[in-house]
Formats: sequence, C-alpha cells, structure tokens
Amino acid sequence: MSKKTEVINIFSKVANKYDFINNVISFGVHKLWEKKLLSKISLNITKGNSYQNALDLCTGTGALLYKLSLVSKNLYALDISNEMLDIAKKRLNKIYDDINDKNKLENIKFYQGEAENLPFKDNFFDLIVVSYGVRNFYDLNKGLQEIYRCLSKNGIAYILEFGKPILVTKLYKKSFSRYLCKLWQKLFIFYFSKIMPLIVRIFSKDTNSYRYLSKSALSFPSDEEFVKILSQNGLHCSKCDAMLGGFVYLYTCNIDK
Ligand SMILES: C[S@@+](CC[C@H](N)C(=O)[O-])C[C@H]1O[C@@H](n2cnc3c(N)ncnc32)[C@H](O)[C@@H]1O
Repeated sequence: MSKKTEVINIFSKVANKYDFINNVISFGVHKLWEKKLLSKISLNITKGNSYQNALDLCTGTGALLYKLSLVSKNLYALDISNEMLDIAKKRLNKIYDDINDKNKLENIKFYQGEAENLPFKDNFFDLIVVSYGVRNFYDLNKGLQEIYRCLSKNGIAYILEFGKPILVTKLYKKSFSRYLCKLWQKLFIFYFSKIMPLIVRIFSKDTNSYRYLSKSALSFPSDEEFVKILSQNGLHCSKCDAMLGGFVYLYTCNIDK
C-alpha cells in the first residue's frame, strides 16, 4: 500500500476519535504547544491588522481554525481526508453559531486536497501553518516545495512537528548530562513505541493506526536534519523552538524570492 493510501485510510478511520485520542496521548500538553504557535502568529501582526490569506495545511479536525480565523482576512483549510475535514467544518460552524457571527464563515474555505499538489496560485499566502502534518506527507520534499511556491515574498510558515529529544542531540556531548540524555532518549522511544500505540490501539481498535502513528513519529528527522531539508526546499528556518525537551519542535520559516 502506498503511504498516501495508508494515510488517507488511517485518518479517515480515526477521525471521529482523533481529538479525544490526541488529548489522551499528549496528556493535554499539545494545547500548550498550539498556544505557543498561535501566540507567535498573533505577535507577528500589529494590532488591527491581519494576514490577507492564510492556509491551515493538514487542518485535520480544525483545532486551530477558529483562532486563525481571528487573525486572517481569508482563511483556507486543506486536508487529504474528507472525514477529518467534515469534523473541522462542523466544529467551526458550531463555534460561529454559538457566538452568533455566521458571516465570518464566508471567509473560510475548505479544500480536500494534497500538500504535494496545492490547488492555489503562486505567492498566494502570507501565512501557512502545518501542525503535525509534515511527517504524514507522502512526498516530504514535494510538500515543502509547494509551501514555498504558495508563500508570498514576505510570507511566513510555521511548522509544528515531533522531533528527537534535544537533550540527546544537543547536550549529549557534555558528559554531565550523559545519563539524563540517555534516559530522556529511552523515554522518548518507549513512549512512542509502547505507550502511545497502546493508547491508540485501545481507543481506535485499529492495529494499522497505532503502528503508523508511532512509526511516523519515530522516523521523522531530527531538528537539525529537518532544518537542512527545509532549506533545500527554499524554506529558511529563522527559529527552531524545542518543546518538552525536544519531543516537539516549532519551526519558523521565511523565504527568499
Ligand atoms: C496528525 S493530523 C494533524 C491535524 C491538525 N493539524 C492538528 O494539529 O490537530 C494530520 C492531518 O494531516 C492530513 N494529511 C496527511 N497527509 C496529508 C497530505 N499529503 N496532504 C494533506 N493533508 C494530509 C491527515 O489527513 C490529518 O488530518
């Protein structure tokens, strides 16, 4: 089975339980990382201004959409899975229904599509966000090239993704932290290979999903490797923030056009 088919099948199957499972496997910590991402995005714009066109790539169930809609004039949400997109649409509808502001929904457009072949013209976006999406791209370089193509000259991309613990990659050389580093690395591998799959297995009852989720997290490049890959595809990482000792990284990318 191709990675593309595997990804579509898995996310379509887990769509209904995705938010719940996400909360459980991250112990709710993912909300803090999302908050950090959103506060960076908001900090970039001066009061009263907003991004003209913003894209939430791999939007999933649309966890970031409401907040992104507050800082962008036109918001686009794209995902390869129709099932995930359906949940995102319902979620946003409900929020805007609750606050009685349905008009704003006209500025938010949903697309079923692929990161590797974005249905947008060159230089269209001044903001692209990918939260836990890039490790799922079936062609990482092609997806990053598409982000580059669709970003405007002064555009900015934020990529949130699992990494390799920083304690291992950055501090390992210092002997005082050798034990701590090894322990942290072991914990990282143990969590992704044993704990996370077990939780996903219990709740999704689907053996492929749990295998895929841990495999994709464990095999994703380290921060240093990924920064190189970004730059090979025209995305210059101006800042790379490690969170929870390097379990997760937030990459801030600019481009030269
Ligand atoms: C782990 S979820 C993340 C969802 C959301 N961004 C979040 O932070 O909760 C990854 C999402 O990426 C989507 N996806 C995977 N590969 C994709 C691709 N090549 N193009 C577009 N979407 C993709 C999946 O369908 C899934 O909804």
